[in-house]
Amino acid sequence: MEALNIQQLRKTYSAGVEALKGVDLKVKQGEFFALLGPNGAGKSTLIGILTGLVNKTSGKVRVFDEDLDVAPSRLKAQLGVMTQELNFNIFESCWNTVNFQAGYYGIDWKEAGRRTEQLLRDLELWDKAHQPVRNLSGGMKRRLMLARALVHDPKLLILDEPTAGLDIELRRSLWVYLQKRNEAGLTIILTTHYLEEADAFAERIVVIANGRVVADGSASDIRARGAGRILSVDIPEANERAWFAQATSTAGMTLIETRGRRAYFSAPDTDAAALALLTALGSKNLEIAAPTLDSAFVALTGEQPEAEEAAPHGRTRGREKPSAPTDTATGEVTR
Ligand SMILES: Nc1ncnc2c1ncn2[C@@H]1O[C@H](COP(=O)(O)OP(=O)(O)OP(=O)(O)O)[C@@H](O)[C@H]1O
Ligand SMILES: [Mg+2]
Repeated sequence: MEALNIQQLRKTYSAGVEALKGVDLKVKQGEFFALLGPNGAGKSTLIGILTGLVNKTSGKVRVFDEDLDVAPSRLKAQLGVMTQELNFNIFESCWNTVNFQAGYYGIDWKEAGRRTEQLLRDLELWDKAHQPVRNLSGGMKRRLMLARALVHDPKLLILDEPTAGLDIELRRSLWVYLQKRNEAGLTIILTTHYLEEADAFAERIVVIANGRVVADGSASDIRARGAGRILSVDIPEANERAWFAQATSTAGMTLIETRGRRAYFSAPDTDAAALALLTALGSKNLEIAAPTLDSAFVALTGEQPEAEEAAPHGRTRGREKPSAPTDTATGEVTR
């Protein structure tokens, strides 16, 4: 059975921005699914349509057996949603925030109390139960949003950037919790900019860019869609700017990133690019490697993946954009 079935979904905002340009998407029941895409790709718009915050322009949306055009409130009852923006009454207590939501879904007060306690305990918020939301740290607020999203026991959980702003420890515990819930049968869809996160946890990744689906598959499928092999060479000490300009105009090479004094390129024809680097560009220490998820992302979306300061595996990446090679060249990036 499909947890989510989206056909030809389009959204044009009143300002004329085409945020979704005909998206088709199916998510099977029980899947742990990641929607990956750069800023402005249309991820939150898609989620907003599911939750009724955004009106679609056209297309079909089904969640399990419910059609958005036929029974929006029955569709909504199947969904638990953690939005990208915090949307609490900050003067309410944590207990009430979760418990009132259960009431909103018509769960009787005894059961609502039982679930509220269980969720606050599971998400390590029990000692804050009677504190107002405004007293919570940012990470605690996000966990409270998750508790609230789960209290009516939805069949499909949707998380828009769930780990944004969480430290490594919190990310890990959140992931462990979500994986446990997924193993118990909950279908989970999350959006992220973090390739590592999508790679580590999701069975299936759909990449969207500019309102369109550009790739769909496992992390290794997506990796295979990358722009072939990766070429890396030393960045010359002199005339760096001219060198980068020449490198990116030669043999269609695209700069993926720089790390220390090394530059990493992809190219449609790796052999031709390698030859150009060694001859016309006089590059030193050429290495050629298999594509990474990052290079696939750049190839698919034409954008650099979001900088990541606290990925699940503690990896860090530079914030620099490939369009400013002379700046990136000085940015030290560690792995
Ligand atoms: N309410 C709105 N009115 C007009 N344009 C909007 C509105 N909300 C979003 N957009 C535009 O729609 C496009 C998609 O935005 P959306 O928020 O869906 O992207 P996103 O993939 O969630 O990005 P991010 O990763 O930054 O959260 C962007 O160009 C954005 O400026
Ligand atoms: Mg968003």
